[in-house]
Amino acid sequence: MKFSVKFHNNLEKQNTTCIVVGIFESRRLSLAAEQLDTISNGYIRSILHRGAVQGKICQTLLLHDVPNIRSKCILIIGCGKTSDMNIKQYKTVIDKTISTLNDTGIAEAICFLTDLNVHIKGYSTYWKVRHTVEVSHEALYRFHYLKSKKVAPLLSLRKLTLNIPTRREIIIGANAMHHSLAVVAGIKIAKDLSNMPPNICNATYLSLQAQQLSELYSNTMTTYSVGEKKMTELGMHAYLAVGRSSHNESLMSVIEYRGHKDKNARPIVFIGKGVTFDSGGISLKPAEGMGEMKYDMCGAASVCGIMKVVAELRLPLNIIGVMAGCENMPGGYAYRPGDVITTMSGQTVEILNTDAEGRLILCDTLTYVERFKPEIVIDIATLTGACVVALGHHHSGLLSNYNPLAKELMVAAEQSGDYVWRLPITEDYQKQLESNIADMKNIGGKYAGAITAACFLERFTRRYHWAHLDIAGTAWRSTTNKGATGRPVSLLSQFLINRSNLNEQIESTQ
Ligand code: BES
Ligand code: MN
Ligand code: ZN
Repeated sequence: MKFSVKFHNNLEKQNTTCIVVGIFESRRLSLAAEQLDTISNGYIRSILHRGAVQGKICQTLLLHDVPNIRSKCILIIGCGKTSDMNIKQYKTVIDKTISTLNDTGIAEAICFLTDLNVHIKGYSTYWKVRHTVEVSHEALYRFHYLKSKKVAPLLSLRKLTLNIPTRREIIIGANAMHHSLAVVAGIKIAKDLSNMPPNICNATYLSLQAQQLSELYSNTMTTYSVGEKKMTELGMHAYLAVGRSSHNESLMSVIEYRGHKDKNARPIVFIGKGVTFDSGGISLKPAEGMGEMKYDMCGAASVCGIMKVVAELRLPLNIIGVMAGCENMPGGYAYRPGDVITTMSGQTVEILNTDAEGRLILCDTLTYVERFKPEIVIDIATLTGACVVALGHHHSGLLSNYNPLAKELMVAAEQSGDYVWRLPITEDYQKQLESNIADMKNIGGKYAGAITAACFLERFTRRYHWAHLDIAGTAWRSTTNKGATGRPVSLLSQFLINRSNLNEQIESTQ
């Protein structure tokens, strides 16, 4: 599907299949609907007064052959109460618009919903474009690579032009479109990788994705991977223990992007948990829902997605993405509850549950990345079921050892609508990890599991500013609309866009 932005002044002359305009409750016309009504000599109002469509949220009305209008049809979409218009309602309206256009078999449309008077902070033209593209992309996403019969394309909608309300704002609109297209390309990579089954998507597959990406952007990107032999030399015994019983080799894939004018400027490092299948190991998970543990590499997939966005936008930063790939399986060679393992940092860990494996691969990766002298390290992991208990499926967990970084992430989350909620890390929680025979245990007991998992990681991050995103509840959906969400690519792309000051020269994005 093709997206574009344009400033349209003559509505009647638009020779497209469909024009999309909004109406609010009690038949209050939006600006564009008002214009169409005038051009058509009151046709729109008269139809509305005859029918049942009053502008309730997501009501739709498709009008054909409207007098004096060249476009074949007009889609009127209910936007609810003006006073209720907020980020969520706007996205709901866009989602409904896209599915209606697509289901109706419309191939081309010009969307005037960008003129809705949304007075809430963060609703500049920039953000309306960004959200429209991201929501449309989400609504039209399908994963059909593995169907034996090639399904006829589900998508009839091929071209969507977003109207930019004023000529003055066209640069802002084009800039927003440029950012959006990069972000949705990154989200698509993350979703496709995440949805891929674990017999195909193993750690080697992840490293192939890294290679492909860096070949595409060879001017700015390089990649290499660290296998089991090298890990042994480095003393990454926690990481190695997790993958020990799998036939698929553990592989840590590193993607380096140098976009800063100073190639040696300290980088921002992203680390993604890439457990391509988490059976639980000897502490085997119950059968029900185990198939969903193919998603235990969503963190790594999001890192791949973020690197795509970074390269596509040529951000003026140095950024390193690390996908920590491996598979957690039971077997005769598996690590066991009771084992004590020495991590790369030298700290020892008493394993009490082999299903708390994410923190073990991450702790060695966190130590490994010290060599990059990072300004910031952010890890992204489907780390704990406890995070799902705490926050459900709407907010990702955010934990950090550095308040300014946590705040930056919270701002980016609000802007992108890819929400996070901060949880504490304190000494009191650290106590839950104390072991009588090693430096720490790998589990912290029944309570505050998302926090104690982060406390574990925190012990390996004392050399830099660090944040941890627990995406166990947000990375995929298991009920309606099953599949990967691509989160938190949108959040982290925004975090990086903000850091790059890209929008400063154009206009504030607020
Ligand atoms: N990958 C899981 C976490 C998970 C569970 C994510 C369910 C999404 C849905 C992780 O490796 C795990 O198994 N964590 C354990 C930790 C426990 C043994 C301390 C958990 O959450 O049960
Ligand atoms: Mn596990
Ligand atoms: Zn796991």
